Amino acid sequence: MALLEVRDIRKYFGNVEVLKGIDFDLEEGEAISIIGSSGSGKTTLLRCLNFLETPDKGTITVRGERLFDAAAWKSVSEEQVRKKRMHFGMVFQSFNLFPQFTALENVTLAPLLASKGGKAGPPEEEIRKRGMELLGQMGLLDRKDNYPHQLSGGQQQRVAIARALALKPDILCFDEPTSALDPELTGEVLKVIRELAKKNTTMIIVTHEMAFARDVADRVIFMDKGVVLEEGPAREVIDNPKEERTKQFLAGYNQKGEWQEPGAREASASRQGTVGAHVHDGLSQRLRAYRRPFKKENDKDE
Ligand SMILES: Nc1ncnc2c1ncn2[C@@H]1O[C@H](COP(=O)(O)OP(=O)(O)OP(=O)(O)O)[C@@H](O)[C@H]1O
Ligand SMILES: [Mg+2]
Repeated sequence: MALLEVRDIRKYFGNVEVLKGIDFDLEEGEAISIIGSSGSGKTTLLRCLNFLETPDKGTITVRGERLFDAAAWKSVSEEQVRKKRMHFGMVFQSFNLFPQFTALENVTLAPLLASKGGKAGPPEEEIRKRGMELLGQMGLLDRKDNYPHQLSGGQQQRVAIARALALKPDILCFDEPTSALDPELTGEVLKVIRELAKKNTTMIIVTHEMAFARDVADRVIFMDKGVVLEEGPAREVIDNPKEERTKQFLAGYNQKGEWQEPGAREASASRQGTVGAHVHDGLSQRLRAYRRPFKKENDKDE
């Protein structure tokens, strides 16, 4: 049985069907990356998994427990939704830290509330210790007493990751965790996500960083106009996409795996020969740069 089973998730905004029956499984310890063009429904899907949006149809099951069934959702209380939400940790594009709290307080706030000051869960001291451990894991122990405005974007995002981990979620979800960051700060955030993947953290990563998705995710899901159009092992989908739409989408990335405007894309594709080879060359080049410091034991050199 998969850790997460998503079945026939459908979501309308007004008359527009934004998710048109999404199905996928996620195994324990697996990292999947969701890619796809703007507006294809990636954020909406993550928000549905975190119960920030209510799907109109479908089911969500974690460890065999039916967390969501559109047919029986009306009778679920706010308190029950809060409990269900704790199965998922969410890291947003824009960090969303509490500005009035320090880094450590941001990480410990939710577990302290959940444990009601130690009456309904672990004692305060234990929660604080775990908060420090998580900040240490993110390389931010010396920043524990800083407020968000005293931290760089990359540091804030790492605090947000520690905060998402603090409640020990079954599944950690990222929605374009680096797209609000300057390029020089992107690497430090990707590095901690990569380390989490090495520790077999179960993750769903929505990203436009193609080279990163190819290298870190076990599986890639390509979404297009509210459906899962293609899915498979990360390298297979990114290097040899089968569907025409996936090919077109990936062809939009330049040699560094960065998105480029259609005009520039065509010019560069014609310089490089076939589009597929062009994408693959570009990604391989970028991956070599990524790989050097973080090579996985089972990675083969290319
Ligand atoms: N609250 C909302 N009300 C109405 N329409 C919405 C709402 N949220 C999203 N949409 C629409 O749903 C569609 C999917 O949006 P979504 O944000 O999920 O796309 P995405 O794949 O995350 O795109 P991006 O790559 O730009 O982040 C879009 O057409 C968007 O305009
Ligand atoms: Mg989005």
